[in-house]
Amino acid sequence: MKLKNVFACTAFATLMVANVGAQEAPQLGKASLDEVIQAMTLEEKVSLLVGSAGKFDSNQTATIGSQGELVPGAAGETNAIPRLGIPATVLSDGPAGVRISPTRENTSQTFYCTHFPVETLLASTWNTELVQQVGEAMGEEAKRYGVDVLLGPATNIHRNPLNGRNFEYYSEDPLLAGEMAAAMIEGVQSNGVGTSLKHFALNNQETNRTSNDVVVSPRTFREIYLKPFEIAVKKAKPWTIMSSYNKINGTYASERSDLLTDILRHEWGFDGMVMTDWFGGQHTTWQMEAGNDLLMPGKKSQCEDIIKAVRSGVLSQDIINRNVRHILEYILRTPRFKGYQATNDPDLPHHAQITRASASEGMILLENKDMTLPLDKKAAKRIALFGCTSYDFIAGGTGSGDVNSRYTVSLSEGLKAGGFKLDKTLTSLYETYLAEQKKILDKSKGFWGHRPRAKEMQMDKKQLEQAASQNQVAIVTIGKTSGEFLDRSIRSNFNLVAEEKELIQNVCEAFHARHKKVIVILNVCGVIETASWREAPDAILLAWMGGQEGGNTVADILSGKVNPSGRLPMTFPMQYADVPSKDNFPDLDSISEEDMNKALQNFMNVRTSGDRKNFDVTTYEEGIFVGYRYYDTKNVPVAYPFGFGLSYTTFDYADASAQVEGDQVKVSLKVKNTGKVAGKEVVQIYVSAPGKDMAKPKKELKAFQKTPLLQPGETQELQFQIPVDALASFNEKDSRWQVEGGQYQVHVAQNSRDVKVSLPIQLSGKITETVQPLMLPVAEW
Ligand code: BGC
Repeated sequence: MKLKNVFACTAFATLMVANVGAQEAPQLGKASLDEVIQAMTLEEKVSLLVGSAGKFDSNQTATIGSQGELVPGAAGETNAIPRLGIPATVLSDGPAGVRISPTRENTSQTFYCTHFPVETLLASTWNTELVQQVGEAMGEEAKRYGVDVLLGPATNIHRNPLNGRNFEYYSEDPLLAGEMAAAMIEGVQSNGVGTSLKHFALNNQETNRTSNDVVVSPRTFREIYLKPFEIAVKKAKPWTIMSSYNKINGTYASERSDLLTDILRHEWGFDGMVMTDWFGGQHTTWQMEAGNDLLMPGKKSQCEDIIKAVRSGVLSQDIINRNVRHILEYILRTPRFKGYQATNDPDLPHHAQITRASASEGMILLENKDMTLPLDKKAAKRIALFGCTSYDFIAGGTGSGDVNSRYTVSLSEGLKAGGFKLDKTLTSLYETYLAEQKKILDKSKGFWGHRPRAKEMQMDKKQLEQAASQNQVAIVTIGKTSGEFLDRSIRSNFNLVAEEKELIQNVCEAFHARHKKVIVILNVCGVIETASWREAPDAILLAWMGGQEGGNTVADILSGKVNPSGRLPMTFPMQYADVPSKDNFPDLDSISEEDMNKALQNFMNVRTSGDRKNFDVTTYEEGIFVGYRYYDTKNVPVAYPFGFGLSYTTFDYADASAQVEGDQVKVSLKVKNTGKVAGKEVVQIYVSAPGKDMAKPKKELKAFQKTPLLQPGETQELQFQIPVDALASFNEKDSRWQVEGGQYQVHVAQNSRDVKVSLPIQLSGKITETVQPLMLPVAEW
């Protein structure tokens, strides 16, 4: 990218210090921070507070999230101030792996990165150690490619299944989301590179995300949406936090000092740096005051605004010194400051293995009638592989959460590599069809990677019967993807479209007529409707988007090389109409095509006509009753409950006990593998409160553990410790966290609807923390 340096914060800064003696200038890391800050001109400070794109020509055509010059394709950089020994640092996306350009000018060397599984799949492993290992590999890749901060993990709550970026997030449950984020941060940061925990907070929809106002009560905000951030910040200490685009109760997140300073720093003890999301927020001065230290990727106008505000006395020097200090403290920790030179040689083959293995723990077996899976040797002899996605597997979502990996293993490739034989006629039919479709689809402009996928190929009865007569088993893959800027359509992304349902139905008819089985693989970005068609096939494997090794991973599970142990990190409702936030989430299907096209040109930031509810303002009317907290409390039937997942083996729970010891609730039990193959079990501990003092969900997840691989007959004892304080709810009236006194039930469960044993415990009431009444609408401050 060639950019003219017309008016630059840095250039400006250089001019202003022309007469400051370079020799005497205090150096970062040698002199104290006070001395360095003291020696800085206002313009130099501003050049730190505003990211490096601020120095570019205002006519620049740079795209969001690819401003990097030091590492091409990285999302952004902070500016260097050489005279003070301050290097530039590099920030790069994102949650599923490092996102940089795979090629560079003037070299034939490539810079591919590993596409790891998406966060939703990682959460489905319920295995924090494994997620930490993925983080270690991701962080190592970031470091070797010269990246100082990986812009992830993201830990917004899955409030509604239509959020286009849910795949970048972990769960509908704050504990699971928080523990996963903490494990990822620990893994990445163990390499000496930073993370940016994002998007803080309430960025739960993409539609109109840069000006949508979220109306939320303090209790809901704290218990559900802030909780995962709180857990991750306290446990894993991310170097940086990324504030979100949206407004909260009338004010931009990046302009709220109650969020970024009072809660984040004072209540939780965060001591890192806060940056905006790319071009997020509106009022530079308010962002500075709120404690949003760094404005990314930086705009020339922001430099001018800060300088003007300081000169006119509107913005105090103390504020900008505070923010500069946070940025300098961050820079001191970076590999670039420590003189690390990018080696550009990550161990991609090793990381591919980590991807394959981690994905296999997060794929979820939803149905398995008569032990259809694993496939027996006979079935493996000839497989009829249906569905375009089988031949064009989806590694991850689009937008900044995408990764430029060298390859994606499709299911057809994975099955062949795993020794399965595929029906060649069918394979070549699909390959020819997809090649034709590709020519047509490549012409569509697409929008930030949102290119339409090929429609399912029509197949006549004769073709299906032939396939059924010549093969032992059928596999049908359904593919759904989503990404940044765009929420999902109920009609075509949450629900299967008619051609997909027909394909499943017709394949089932043809194969069942010959007593042969049908397996459906869901290579999907998020929750889909399953209730209307799930009875038809014999097995359903929810493969999510498993990264670049997806096809190999599915083959490992189908063959039985790996026994699936993934569990749902969210609920699958029977239908979209059952979702608690259904009336308070944008419905893209209600927008005319014309309006949609206009909106897409403007990053979904406008709705040109019609109902503006959920575009301008989204009210979280469902309160704390998100996901299973709603379905279980209201006894709403669900397709698959939170925490659900089958295995090729069975487990027995025995000797469960729960008691209160000091400030901990201690739970122990024995888990035995009672089946014929080795497997891992996820034990989930839910707690029900008396619920007399305030409304409470029927039960809430308070602890979980995944067993190691248990051999048939093997028993493992598990022990859990739940701090009593973790049972506190937020009392809005008195602005305090309080544990209700009385009898609680501790549920040892396989999923939220399958409780193995419930154990009573008695707790005395207590107030665990009183906090300032914050995050209220501006009028109530
Ligand atoms: C996304 C962030 C991302 C940033 C930089 C924004 O559009 O919301 O998640 O880190 O771009 O690419």
